[in-house]
Amino acid sequence: MSEQAEVDLGADPADEGERLQKVLARVGLGSRRVCELLIDEGRVTVNDRVVVLGARVKPDDEIAVDGAIISTAVDTVTYLLNKPAGVVTTAQDTHDRPVVVDLVPAEPRVFPVGRLDLDTEGLLLLTNDGDLAYRLTHPSFGVDKEYLVHVRGRPGAGVIRTLRQGVELDDGMTAPAKAAVVAPGLIRITIHEGRNRQVRRMCEAVGHPVLRLVRTRIGTLTDSRLAPGAWRPLSRAELLDLQRAVTRVE
Ligand code: URA
Repeated sequence: MSEQAEVDLGADPADEGERLQKVLARVGLGSRRVCELLIDEGRVTVNDRVVVLGARVKPDDEIAVDGAIISTAVDTVTYLLNKPAGVVTTAQDTHDRPVVVDLVPAEPRVFPVGRLDLDTEGLLLLTNDGDLAYRLTHPSFGVDKEYLVHVRGRPGAGVIRTLRQGVELDDGMTAPAKAAVVAPGLIRITIHEGRNRQVRRMCEAVGHPVLRLVRTRIGTLTDSRLAPGAWRPLSRAELLDLQRAVTRVE
């Protein structure tokens, strides 16, 4: 929980730093006026303290809006890619296969957040924001990932129940998952762990090997209109939602 005492960090013009509303506006939170209102409403903290209008910030200060930490590095970019099958989730492949970073702009250099198997399709984030990437992949934040899974055979209620409760894999039990039949041979699974080939191994373990695997959601992020191989930058609102999902509330 943020400290509620109102402090004016660096209101003294001699104390250098940049006006907070200017920084907030530059990273896309809204016009200067809108950002001033955010500050006035007590929704902005700097280094965990609510600040008042007039506050100035330095590059190392941690700014948060409604508890979500804002990335203020000007050149931070985060893309959402619809990864096609046959593309490797890495920056460079030793076997010269196509790689995901070739599908997005070369500059600034970005890297994939987590990993989709060679044959897995669907949503993948790429960013140069190391902190965001770390948090999104850290199991303690448990960001949901949803998959549409085409499997061999027709899983019934018993199989779905097992997937929900947890499946014994060679690296231990899986955490409870969400699972539902969408159509015969097609299931939707939501997990928040990020173990290697987890969905494939879970389905194999219950007797229904995966024929096709598509990631359809990361946290609150979805985009059914993004064509395979296409990418787009995240909107400010999407980025805020993601940041909120990986911000600890104490
Ligand atoms: N689970 C898998 O088995 N493969 C992926 O690519 C992602 C999740």
